[in-house]
Amino acid sequence: MQYQPLPRLDIVSDDTANIRNYLLPFCRLKPGDIWYDPEGRHLVACGDAVDTAFIRKLFPDSPAELAIQDPPYNLAVFAKRSVSEFIHWCRKWVYNSFDILSDNAAFYVWLGADQNNHFQPLPQFMAMMAETPFKSRSFITMRNQRGYGTQKNWMAVRQELLYYEKGKPPFTVQYTDIPKILRGYYRMVRGKRTENIERSLAPTIRPGNVWVDVQQVFYRMEENVNGCYAQKPLKAIERIIQASSAEGATVTDFFAHAGTTLIACERTGRKCVTFDIDPLFAEITIRRLEQYRATGKAGWQRSNPFEKELRNYHGYILEQSA
Ligand SMILES: C[S@@+](CC[C@H](N)C(=O)[O-])C[C@H]1O[C@@H](n2cnc3c(N)ncnc32)[C@H](O)[C@@H]1O
Repeated sequence: MQYQPLPRLDIVSDDTANIRNYLLPFCRLKPGDIWYDPEGRHLVACGDAVDTAFIRKLFPDSPAELAIQDPPYNLAVFAKRSVSEFIHWCRKWVYNSFDILSDNAAFYVWLGADQNNHFQPLPQFMAMMAETPFKSRSFITMRNQRGYGTQKNWMAVRQELLYYEKGKPPFTVQYTDIPKILRGYYRMVRGKRTENIERSLAPTIRPGNVWVDVQQVFYRMEENVNGCYAQKPLKAIERIIQASSAEGATVTDFFAHAGTTLIACERTGRKCVTFDIDPLFAEITIRRLEQYRATGKAGWQRSNPFEKELRNYHGYILEQSA
């Protein structure tokens, strides 16, 4: 079987510039365009998270009940920004999110860091959020199983996820698959000495605000989308959706990329309104939904979203799998 990876499509290097240019004509959306799901549930667009007029067009009738935002941080394709420029830019899409959220809505933001370039915007981001009408509710750390820089530094295994509220959104307690194992908290119940596990409502633990049970996406997983470099695990996004929205609710994501929020909405019975500034990622997002509906597969583990088109592209080298 042939393994057909794609390089990171966001970085315009000598290797990828040609592939990007070759693939762009196959993308259905150009900036400002909207794709309406033929099954009438979701909406995918191509546009800029700081463009208020464009975003309002995506929510003509009803607002969203949940926003899950995963902004890029100083990636090569976008002009490198200082932390203060980054925060200034964030403030704009944060207010755009506030604008299209219902009166009682949840707002989640994944916030990365680039330690090598001294880019650690978390404290400044939190300070900026304190000046907005959102109310801070939690600061979650998702622990990755794999890390970077193991030899000369502490291995980087954390991903930060901030949770805010607008009004009073719903919250449904979630559980992991991890069995409760801590014993020893005894209490007398109706004359009988009971142990904490006997008294608890569920046999497994709650994720709390440190998630240790989510595998980050890598090439061996079915949900992997080759060509995407920053895809979040479906399990994490589904957990957020199930905790913070009701079935049938509208969920939005301004930074679609691999379309993870869209697939999570499809699988959990929510409506998704999502977009990306890059036509390639907007197209990948649509194709991922189409492939999920056609095959039940959440990604392209051994292939990629543009497999058919790339068969005719001579600069693309197919690698033999191990
Ligand atoms: C970190 S990725 C999001 C990953 C996503 N959560 C997933 O699981 O696939 C960030 C995405 O934001 C897009 N992006 C960058 N600047 C943007 C902007 N101003 N408006 C909308 N999308 C933007 C990039 O093209 C990239 O695909």
